[in-house]
Amino acid sequence: MFPLRVFLFGGLVSLCVCQYYDYDFGLPPEPVQSTPSCVQECECPFNFPTAMYCNGRNLKFIPIVPTGIKYLYLQDNLIEEIKPGVFDNVTDLRWLVLDNNIITSDKIQSGTIDKLGKLEKLMFSNNKLTKPPGPLSKSLDELKLIGNQLTSFPSGTLSGMENLTSVYLSKNQLTSESLAGAFKGLKSLMLLDVSENKLKKLPAGVPPSLLMLYADNNEIESISGGYVAKLPELQYLRVSHNKLVDSGIPAGVFNVSSLLELDLSFNKLQTIPEVNEALEHLYLQVNQISKFDLGSICKFSSPVNYSKLKTLRLDGNNLTHSSMPDDASNCLRQASEIIFD
Ligand SMILES: *[C@@H]1O[C@H](CO)[C@@H](O)[C@H](O)[C@H]1NC(C)=O
Ligand SMILES: *[C@@H]1O[C@H](CO)[C@@H](O)[C@H](O)[C@H]1NC(C)=O
Ligand SMILES: *[C@@H]1O[C@H](CO)[C@@H](O)[C@H](O)[C@H]1NC(C)=O
Ligand SMILES: *[C@@H]1O[C@H](CO)[C@@H](O)[C@H](O)[C@H]1NC(C)=O
Ligand SMILES: *[C@@H]1O[C@H](CO)[C@@H](O)[C@H](O)[C@H]1NC(C)=O
Repeated sequence: MFPLRVFLFGGLVSLCVCQYYDYDFGLPPEPVQSTPSCVQECECPFNFPTAMYCNGRNLKFIPIVPTGIKYLYLQDNLIEEIKPGVFDNVTDLRWLVLDNNIITSDKIQSGTIDKLGKLEKLMFSNNKLTKPPGPLSKSLDELKLIGNQLTSFPSGTLSGMENLTSVYLSKNQLTSESLAGAFKGLKSLMLLDVSENKLKKLPAGVPPSLLMLYADNNEIESISGGYVAKLPELQYLRVSHNKLVDSGIPAGVFNVSSLLELDLSFNKLQTIPEVNEALEHLYLQVNQISKFDLGSICKFSSPVNYSKLKTLRLDGNNLTHSSMPDDASNCLRQASEIIFD
C-alpha cells in the first residue's frame, strides 16, 4: 500500500513540478567562480549572473545585494530580520527565497519586501511569521508560507494578483474566519494548500480556476452543498484527517465530473459518499464504513458504462472483500487496487 501511495503522490508532484524550477537546489552544481560584484559570502555564477546563492551559510543578516540580481537564494540561514534598505539595489527582484530562517513579522521593515514590485516567487516557509509579509507585488505567481505561525491573513493580502497560481499555507494556525475573503477574485489560482491548520470548513470564496485543493489535517466537519460544483476545474481534493461525518456531506456534493482524486481518509464517515463515474482515485481508509454501497460509485453500470476508479482504499473500516456485492466487478473493472485491509 505504502509504495502505491508514494507513487501517486510522486505522480502529483511531477504534475505540479513542471511549473517550478529548481530553486531548492540552492547550490550551483559545481564550485564556480563568482562574478566580481558578488559579495564574498555568496556565489553568483558566471553562467547565471542574475542569481545570487547565499543559502546554508549561517548568515545572520541579509548581505549586500548587487545591482542586476534577480534571483536571490537566502534559505537555510539564521536570518532574523529584514533591515531597511537591504533590497534597495534590486527592486526588480523576481525570486526571493527565505525558507528556513527565523524571521518574525515585526522584524520585516517597511521599504523592503513591499518595494519589490516585480516579485514573482516568494518562498518564506519555516520562519516565525504571524501574518503574511507585504503588501506584496501584484505580479506574484507563487507564494509559500508553510510552517510559520500565521494566525491572520487579511482579506486584501492577495488582491489583484492576476497571475498568482500557487499558494501554500499549510502548517499554520489559520481558521476559516481568518481566511474569509482571502482568495476572492484571483483569476489564475490553480493550487491552494491549507492543510494542517484549524479550519472548520473548506476555504470560502476560492476561484473557479482551482485545480488542486488540499485541506488535510484540519477540523472540518462538513462541506456545503454546491461547494465542489462551483469549482469546475477541480481535479484533486484532499480532506483527509478531518472530522467529516455523513450528515456533513450533502447528497451529490462530490458528484462532479472534473474530480480525479478524492481523499476522505481518516474521517468519521459511515457510508461511501456518492461520486462521479469519472473519479479515478478514492481514498476512504480509516473511517467507520460498514456497508459497501455500490450505487455510490456506479450509477449506470452496463457493459459500455463503468466506473473509471483505479484506486479504492477501504482499509481501516468495518468492511472485508466479502462485503463487495457480486456485480461490483463489472462496474469496477478498471480498479487495479481495491484495498480492504
Ligand atoms: C548597492 O550596491 C552598491 C554597489 O554594488 C553597494 O556599494 C551598496 O552597498 C549596495 N547597497 C545595498 C543596500 O546592498
Ligand atoms: C501577468 O502576466 C502577464 C503576462 O506575463 C503580464 O503582462 C502582466 O503584467 C502580469 N500581471 C501583473 C499584475 O503583473
Ligand atoms: C450526479 O450526477 C449525475 C450526472 O453527472 C446526475 O444524473 C445525478 O442526478 C447526480 N446526482 C445527484 C445526487 O446530484
Ligand atoms: C452512462 O452513464 C451516464 C452517467 O454517468 C448516463 O448518463 C448514461 O446514460 C450511461 N450510458 C449508458 C449507455 O448506460
Ligand atoms: C461491522 O459489520 C458487521 C457485518 O456487516 C456488522 O454486523 C457490525 O454491526 C458492524 N460493526 C460496526 C461497529 O458497525
